[in-house]
Amino acid sequence: MEIETDFLVIGSGIAGLCFAIKAAELGTVAVVTKKDEIESNTNYAQGGIAAVWGETDKFEYHINDTLACGAGLCKEDVVRRVVTDAPERIAELIKWGVEFTRAKGGGSNIYDLGREGGHSMRRILHAKDITGREIERALVEKANSKENIKIYENFVAIDLILSSKALGREKGGRDKCLGAYVFDAKTSVVYTFKSKFTLLATGGAGKVYLITTNPDISTGDGIAMAYRAGAEIANMEFIQFHPTCLYHPEAKSFLISEAVRGEGGVLRLRNGSTFMERYHAMKCLAPRDIVAKAIDTELKRSGDEYVFLDITHRDKDFITKRFPNIYNKCLEFGIDMSKDPIPVVPAAHYICGGVAANAFGETNIDRLFACGEVSCTGLHGANRLASNSLLEGLVFAHRAFMKISELFPAIKDAPVTISPWDARGATVSDESIVVSHNWDEIRRSMWNYVGIVRSDKRLERAGRRIDLINREIDEYYRDFLVTGDLLELRNIAIVAKLITLCAILRKESRGLHYNIDYPEKDDKNWLKDTVVSKPLSAE
Ligand code: FAD
Ligand code: SIN
Repeated sequence: MEIETDFLVIGSGIAGLCFAIKAAELGTVAVVTKKDEIESNTNYAQGGIAAVWGETDKFEYHINDTLACGAGLCKEDVVRRVVTDAPERIAELIKWGVEFTRAKGGGSNIYDLGREGGHSMRRILHAKDITGREIERALVEKANSKENIKIYENFVAIDLILSSKALGREKGGRDKCLGAYVFDAKTSVVYTFKSKFTLLATGGAGKVYLITTNPDISTGDGIAMAYRAGAEIANMEFIQFHPTCLYHPEAKSFLISEAVRGEGGVLRLRNGSTFMERYHAMKCLAPRDIVAKAIDTELKRSGDEYVFLDITHRDKDFITKRFPNIYNKCLEFGIDMSKDPIPVVPAAHYICGGVAANAFGETNIDRLFACGEVSCTGLHGANRLASNSLLEGLVFAHRAFMKISELFPAIKDAPVTISPWDARGATVSDESIVVSHNWDEIRRSMWNYVGIVRSDKRLERAGRRIDLINREIDEYYRDFLVTGDLLELRNIAIVAKLITLCAILRKESRGLHYNIDYPEKDDKNWLKDTVVSKPLSAE
């Protein structure tokens, strides 16, 4: 089955939908998304979106906070661009219908600004504690109102289609992306999507780790697809662990927003004592890597399974109005956060690395763009500042659109010939245990050996296991018909391999990468990105 479109967008979070809404002015847009249209990391974002909005704030402050958090690896020109574009892009979101929480007693245009770790000012626009849900609602509504956009739900992109495979490589020319093969999870049919431009907006990869704040869609598919296609992948070692994920045996991946600490929430050990003052001058509002590492150290020291986040000193009325979603979710598990401290643990939250993309979201493959969490643009460096990632998706969707508007007229009418999907005699698998076993083993190995605190020995151990699993999955993938689970397993295995490889390559500790065998920053040798591509080689 073949579908032809001007623009193929893979993913329906903030990056994919913002781009689709704009690209619909130029031509036809197919958005493929692997679950329901709203299901994305974006939909679960709590804290908000950072921008210089208040009267006392300045671009220079937001830029400096982002650079300080990024520990020397941010690209300053990219940081400046994103920070200075932020107010205009957010104003556009508001025009499209996003309702941010307004300040009490403020005029019609004055929004309540939250505070999060690493920010020197209040600058987080939010919709109570369900900012992502509100943004996703408005974007889905806007996209569905456009005739030129068709959203394909339960369509899982398998692999990118390259000109070198379809037509043979042009001498000296760059490979081109001509679309993607996409699996319809409802009918098990594989579609060939032909496109003039393809945007990867597949989000993050939290599911590579056993404990994560991310929803199930976060299996790093875009990073794995791009890697298989020969794209450059950068800085995969920088995995952000959020310090405060709810600890409860029945709670799956529920985040307790940093905004709770922004409103006075305090981290405590089980005996009630505070500890963050021993780790950083900003105490509980220190950058995330510092808070997560401090909790990890305290848990290892005490043998406890969790620490507490305590906001019981604030009024119940304030708590239920500012954090209605978190309050109600905790209550479901018998925790009244206005009276009880909340048990929390660090969890894999965000991947700073990804598909290397320039200031317009262009990758090293012609006609392939990447934006949002799947990409590595230089905004975050070695550690992302809180609430800068919704912003990155928003700003880069616009910048990718600007670049594509320039390029599109020249190739608009060029014909594209590609081969349909070939299942090459694969049969239905009767061994799905292979998928579930390997799924579990990868996530456990990553959690135990490539977590918050790393060592050469642990990384090598993980590397060996993950290589073996990758070989087994490759064989299995060749023999059996694809399923959604098999596609995701194949992708998390590749992403696990890339994270481990980059972590092995970086012989220092910086930002989110901490290796006890090289505990210090080494600016002389490592003030640079870790770039890998297939066949695995490092620059
Ligand atoms: P996503 O929103 O994750 O969207 C990815 C899309 O790609 C989804 O639609 C998914 O289904 C689709 N997809 C994936 N693979 C495939 C495939 N193979 N085929 C087809 N479709 C596919 N950031 C902030 O800035 N502020 C916050 O307050 C904040 N809070 C957060 C809270 C939580 C609990 C989490 C998990 C993250 C939070 N983040 C926050 C991070 C932020 O939400 C994400 O980085 C951001 O939403 C990513 O947007 P995106 O468009 O790149 O990807
Ligand atoms: C949070 O609300 O704590 C998440 C914010 C973010 O990840 O940027």
